[in-house]
Amino acid sequence: DWNMGSFVDQAIAAIRKQVGNKRVLCALSGGIDSSVAAVLVHRAVGDQLTCVYVNHGFMRKNESEQVVKTFRDGFNMNLVYANVPDRFMNRIAGVTEPEAKRKIIGDEFIRVFETEANKLGDIDFLVQGTLYPDVIESGTDTAAVIKSHHNVGGLPEDMKFALVEPLRDLFKDEVRALARELNLPEEIVWRQPFPGPGLAIRIIGEITEERLEILREADAIVQEEIKKADMYRKVWQSFAILPAMKSVGVMGDERTYAYTVGLRIVSSEDGMTADWVRMPYEVLDQISRRIVNEVKGVNRIVYDVTSKPPSTIEWE
Ligand code: XMP
Repeated sequence: DWNMGSFVDQAIAAIRKQVGNKRVLCALSGGIDSSVAAVLVHRAVGDQLTCVYVNHGFMRKNESEQVVKTFRDGFNMNLVYANVPDRFMNRIAGVTEPEAKRKIIGDEFIRVFETEANKLGDIDFLVQGTLYPDVIESGTDTAAVIKSHHNVGGLPEDMKFALVEPLRDLFKDEVRALARELNLPEEIVWRQPFPGPGLAIRIIGEITEERLEILREADAIVQEEIKKADMYRKVWQSFAILPAMKSVGVMGDERTYAYTVGLRIVSSEDGMTADWVRMPYEVLDQISRRIVNEVKGVNRIVYDVTSKPPSTIEWE
């Protein structure tokens, strides 16, 4: 006779038993898994938990502020907000190779996280939002497996924590139900997957402040219009891409030479395969008009009509 309420009670009891009076650390990403895991652990051990949220500067518009507000003000958690976009931007300037970008962001994330963890001092446990499919994928039940091969939250070998993984028996839909049970806000319960390196791997080629701003604004319009069309929960992901190309356009009597923005909207069960969504033309039209009108530096919008395979969902 399994229900969410009794799951919560049991999970809390198990966390208390495991942690005792020791301190716990959590790398909060704003995604549903780490958020639910953090809230559960917070219910169990309160101020023994400290969350660290790293803003690498490649988050979507208003996202970091929203995460900090939710957990600090809404849930009253100890939250360290490492707001350090410059550290990442300095290292990534001039880098164009996708794997190099990922590596730099992953490395720098660990450095920031490590610095914050050291400042906090004596901590024995680390919360991970590992789900059952991650456990299966990793092929072992015992290893301290960091959630996903390409997640930014991977930690260095010499940071020895015991893991607290309260979601490791759950599937995604159960985590969603749990999130609602725990009163997490809708934006987190229904947040589409977002890659650890964030917008950095959606800017093809060099990342500059200007290009980042263009993508962030375009992406915000995509999110808004997809939600308005009531499609946000129905698709797997919907986002903007900034390819490394400009093309000619015309505005009034003037010739323009500006960026193209790509739209990527896919359906998928698990991200392993995906299909491009047959979007209503009116929605595409509205997104296109708004981006070109509202985002300076963009004069052309294209829609990605490839599936995975042979393409990937992200462009990098
Ligand atoms: P691809 O582009 O490989 O993406 O088809 C499959 C799914 O994984 C997400 N993705 C990531 N998630 N860290 C993550 O946590 C990453 O580095 C990363 N790269 C891709 C992608 O958004 C899609 O849902």
